[in-house]
Parts: sequence; C-alpha cells; structure tokens
Amino acid sequence: MNFAIPIATLAGLAIFVGAVLALLSRLLRVEKEFKVKIVNDGNEITVDWNANLLEALKAAGYGIMAACGGAGVCGTCRVKILEGLDEPTPAQLGPLKGKLREEGWVLSCQTQVKNDLVIELFEPLVSAWPEVGEAAEAEVKEKEKELSPAAQRVRERLPGFDCGVCGYETCDDYAEAVAEGKAPQDGCYPGGEPVVRGVRGALLGLELRAALPGFDCGACGYKTCDEYAVAVADGQASPDRCYPGGAPVEERLKALLQGAKKG
Ligand code: FES
Repeated sequence: MNFAIPIATLAGLAIFVGAVLALLSRLLRVEKEFKVKIVNDGNEITVDWNANLLEALKAAGYGIMAACGGAGVCGTCRVKILEGLDEPTPAQLGPLKGKLREEGWVLSCQTQVKNDLVIELFEPLVSAWPEVGEAAEAEVKEKEKELSPAAQRVRERLPGFDCGVCGYETCDDYAEAVAEGKAPQDGCYPGGEPVVRGVRGALLGLELRAALPGFDCGACGYKTCDEYAVAVADGQASPDRCYPGGAPVEERLKALLQGAKKG
C-alpha cells in the first residue's frame, strides 16, 4: 500500500494549520495590552504588547532619568522587576553589576513589555510622578546617610544619580568606599573625567588638610584650614601661604601636590 500521498497530505495540512495558528497568535498579540504595576505609588498602567518600558513609563508621567538617552550604557533608567521576567537578557542588564543584578534591576530602556509586569522604580532617579489620586502623595523617602567627613568631601564631587554603574548602590556608598581606599577614584562612569578630577581633588584636599596645623588662623586668606586645603588642591591657592606652619608645612604641601601630579 502506498502511504506517500496520505502522509504528504497530512504534512501539508499540518503546515497550513501551523501557519494559520501562528498568524492568529501574532495578530492577537499585536492587539494585546498588558498591565504594568508600579509598586512605589500603587499605580497600574496599560501598555501595548512589545512597547518599550521606559517610553511607556514616561508617557504615563514618570520622570525617569535616562542619562544616555536610551543607549543602554548609563544604568540610570533602571527598574526592579518584581514579577513577570524570569531571565533578563544581556542588553537588559547592560552596565548593572553585582547586587543590582541579584536584586532584579534591569534597564527599562532595553525592556519590551511582553506580559504583565510588577515593577519598582528607583525613586532617587525619578524626577516626576503622575497624578494618581492619593497614591501620588506617597512619600518619596530620603535615604540620608551619615557620611564620614572624608566621604562627604568625595560625595560633593559626584553627580548624585545613584545609578550603580560604579558597582555601589548609591553615590554615598561609593564615596565612602573611595574615602576608605576600597574603590577606585575613577569609577564614576556617568560623571566622566570632570568628576574623576573632582574626586581626586577632594582626596588631595584631605591629604593637604592633614598636613596643615589646624589653627584656622586665617593668615592664608581663607577662613579655615579646610578651605585653604581645598583651594590648594583645586590650584586656586599657592602652597606657601600657611605662615604659622612655615617652611616645613610648605614643603609638605608641595610634596603632596607633586605626588598627585605624578599619580
Ligand atoms: S537610559 Fe541609559 S541605560 Fe537606559
């Protein structure tokens, strides 16, 4: 008995049915909308299938920072996916590292919505919130942290995005690590060269300050030794103005400036 014709017919039929089902499924998906719940304010937005999450959030009134304009390199647009995403793609993770990855943060600019999601926004990087009744009044908690004086000096030179690209969750954490010598001074990628220079200047200022007598006498023209040290570090004051400290202090300041230039 020749089975070739019925088998070929069945195979053809299966291919046809498969194609029709695929087309139907595609059409249905295109028209489908999904819910994205934002736990910070309890809001829920409706998003088209495959819509870009960052754009959808912006369209809904969330002022999400996107320092690199959606290029997937700055990390400022990150959101934490609490439900609806099993395995992020490398693009969704982008520059995010360590703890941020473990906690489920992904780049919203690299995320297309393909199902319902529950997400958390990183509040320090959200500049505006939509009006959603009482939920809109939800408090934005200020996570103020006590920094050591040295870390505070470094922190003042950082942009404050808390983007996490340096490997630390916040600029505060990074500043503390830099002040303790545990993190590199050039780790602030979004800040670029000006911030790196600022961080180095802040650390140099601390070294210079330690070399000053600490009388706060004002003979140098600055109110405090702190201010004079910062001015010397920034190149705005010469290292020979600490009259009470005299030649030994001047030599020490010059040596530190020299060392910083070499470094
Ligand atoms: S906007 Fe920069 S990574 Fe998304």
